[in-house]
Amino acid sequence: MRILGIETTCDETAAAVVERDVSGRGRILSNEVLSQIEDHAAYGGVVPEIAARAHVEVMDLLVKRALASAGVALKEIDAIAAAAGPGLIGGVMVGLTTAKALALVAKKPFLAVNHLEAHALSPRLTVGVAFPYLLLLASGGHTQLLVVNGVDDYLRLGTTIDDAIGEAFDKVAKMLGLTYPGGPEVERLAKEGNPLRFAFPRPLMGRKEPNFSLSGLKTAVRIEAEKITPLSEQDVRDLCASFQKAIVESIIDRTRMAFDRLDELHISVTALVIAGGVAANRAIRAGLEALALRKKLPLVAPPHALCTDNGAMIAWAGLERFQQGLIDPLDFAPRARWPLTVTTDIRDNQTHV
Ligand code: KG4
Ligand code: ZN
Repeated sequence: MRILGIETTCDETAAAVVERDVSGRGRILSNEVLSQIEDHAAYGGVVPEIAARAHVEVMDLLVKRALASAGVALKEIDAIAAAAGPGLIGGVMVGLTTAKALALVAKKPFLAVNHLEAHALSPRLTVGVAFPYLLLLASGGHTQLLVVNGVDDYLRLGTTIDDAIGEAFDKVAKMLGLTYPGGPEVERLAKEGNPLRFAFPRPLMGRKEPNFSLSGLKTAVRIEAEKITPLSEQDVRDLCASFQKAIVESIIDRTRMAFDRLDELHISVTALVIAGGVAANRAIRAGLEALALRKKLPLVAPPHALCTDNGAMIAWAGLERFQQGLIDPLDFAPRARWPLTVTTDIRDNQTHV
């Protein structure tokens, strides 16, 4: 089983070929990614029109490269998957249309993949984590604590009531004059800063519902930064370190509450998983690792190249769906918004989102 996957929902154009061998293990045959970060850096964030145009310019080249470096021809691919949302609609259309055209010409099944489901299933590609697992999905656009019960089957425990975690990193970076994307920069500078210099709030600390709130923390950083402007290099490092410490403690507290919720629901999970671009952050991983250890569970984080947006996770999610007999019609419309499937949990009437 071999799938071509295409990703264009944000600022990475990506194409990859992934297969599952007879033992059920996933194997990445190629994983080509072209980041547009430089095109957007001057604006401090992703500009949708620039993104869509940049995807068009490199899409065909990337598909060719993904096939060539996998050493397979289009006719040797079993199905073609593309992220059909959620994301910036212009970009989504580019990847989706490309995948549909290839599927039509090569007479292969077409798979419309939810970008969030692709992040959620990505740890199964490399580590083979068994369902169900508790997932913290944290990226520039999304922050969710989910139980991943199976393909197309999610129980959402919590989400952010304002900014996403990656977005908070990006916004704090921007206010401190750092480059986009902010996460890696803030993490780098935090290593050389004093995490105890500023006492930033830990939003929602102790609240039972495992939701997140980050905009108050972001505002607190702004107020402190304005008080001591002009900022020295050490001030910036200390602000980054104190901000990151607040985020880490907040994430641990929120995830702890998610575990309490699982106990109440009598759900036992096989692992704690972190996925999405923010999973690259070592301080966050270390905090979650300690929590997982206390719960006697492994912390699973996909390798860095699979944490940020990529084509392999789209191909893998397509593969898992295809093996469940889920294929999509060629008139499947791109979706700017697309929450994970809603079903009803018979155990306690909880809503899966
Ligand atoms: O999953 P992703 O590549 O794209 C989205 O779907 O959003 O995630 C990108 C986000 C950005 O907000 C970026 O700042 C954040 O992930 N990020 C990090 C780190 N590396 C990337 N946040 C914190 N620490 C990092 N090391
Ligand atoms: Zn993403």
